[in-house]
Amino acid sequence: MGGPGEGWVRICDSSLPAGGIIGATVGDEDLVVWRSMAGIPCVAEARCPHQWSHLAGEGAVDGEELVCLTHLWRFTADGQGWKENVNGRRDRKGDLVVTPCVEQDGGIWVQPGG
Ligand code: FES
Repeated sequence: MGGPGEGWVRICDSSLPAGGIIGATVGDEDLVVWRSMAGIPCVAEARCPHQWSHLAGEGAVDGEELVCLTHLWRFTADGQGWKENVNGRRDRKGDLVVTPCVEQDGGIWVQPGG
């Protein structure tokens, strides 16, 4: 069993590579799980706050951010939304709701509703 304790749910295996993205459903929550290129596991609501693209299908990891390929909004590990133009100017956009996660015992875990 293992994991961080009672109430935590294992949503994917630790073998998710840097740059990897998968979808996961916990209860009625539709989530996206991704790992930054530095190896940090991140979990957030699956739907882009712009026009609702599913980030497990339309997302790509770029360094430490998750990019929605539909219109290129990008999200930090803590959910801040940005758009970056070709000159590198960054403008704030809508945020993703992040679900805190821990990586332990060979898996990535979240607390439903937590
Ligand atoms: S739907 Fe994600 S950036 Fe537009």
